[in-house]
Amino acid sequence: MRYRTAAWGFIAMAVAATAACGGQRRGVDAASEVLAAEGPKEVNGLETASAFVALTDDIARAKALFAEAGKVIQHPRCTNCHPSGESPTQGDEMRAHEPPVVRGDDGHGVVGMRCQTCHMVANVDLVDRTVPGSPTWHLAPASMGWVGRSLGEICEQLKDPARNGGMDLAAIAAHARADPLVGWAWAPGAGRSAPPGDQATFGGLIEAWVAAGAHCP
Ligand code: HEC
Ligand code: HEC
Repeated sequence: MRYRTAAWGFIAMAVAATAACGGQRRGVDAASEVLAAEGPKEVNGLETASAFVALTDDIARAKALFAEAGKVIQHPRCTNCHPSGESPTQGDEMRAHEPPVVRGDDGHGVVGMRCQTCHMVANVDLVDRTVPGSPTWHLAPASMGWVGRSLGEICEQLKDPARNGGMDLAAIAAHARADPLVGWAWAPGAGRSAPPGDQATFGGLIEAWVAAGAHCP
């Protein structure tokens, strides 16, 4: 909080300084440069939205932002739950889910083999493994399947309300930033790798992609 306030003070100073030596336009540029310089360019192996500010062409910037976000989207912590078939997969090698389960009508499996039989509201540590958990643990609908699709194809379907659950771009960005199943990927329990970055950095990339016109790579 204190940091933010300081940064805004800084921007005010930069704007005032550049306005003094002639012109609104330069003031705005200086302000966005200071803004861009505010945060880190990279968090835990994932570039932040700030790292792309120098790309002034909206189309090029949007494509580059989505390509960076793809390092998360195409990580097994996400794709295991976004299969193109009927069943989730497990582990970094995306092996078949053991025991075999299927999506069912509501994504929560079928009678007798419901996700919530084994997946609790939080991760459960067993002796040899962690059973993943989250309050709404279930499989993404088939229309949101990502496995076997290129990042460009995933990008197009993500924008398509007919396939993304009727979400507009603002809702997609909010989902990226705050959805608990997305967030689980960065706290997946012992023995599982996490995608690069963190949820806030990922959310920031998707927000910046939307702001740049949501062009696909
Ligand atoms: C436990 C399963 C699960 C995991 C893990 C998971 N998702 Fe999802 N995802 C879903 C479900 C289910 C939906 C459908 C919306 C809903 O019901 O919440 C969804 C929807 C989405 C959507 C909405 C639009 C669309 O077309 O896909 C995005 C974006 C998304 N997930 C991103 C991710 C990312 C990124 C990760 C990994 C960091 C991830 N998800 C991990 C289950 C999962
Ligand atoms: C009979 C118990 C059981 C049922 C039912 C079950 N699972 Fe699982 N699931 C597990 C266990 C145990 C693991 C952990 C396996 C491991 O990592 O060795 C797991 C792992 C997973 C993973 C892998 C996470 C990762 O990235 O490695 C996903 C995704 C998953 N389950 C989704 C589902 C979905 C969706 C359903 C319902 C349609 C479901 N599971 C039903 C027991 C179950």
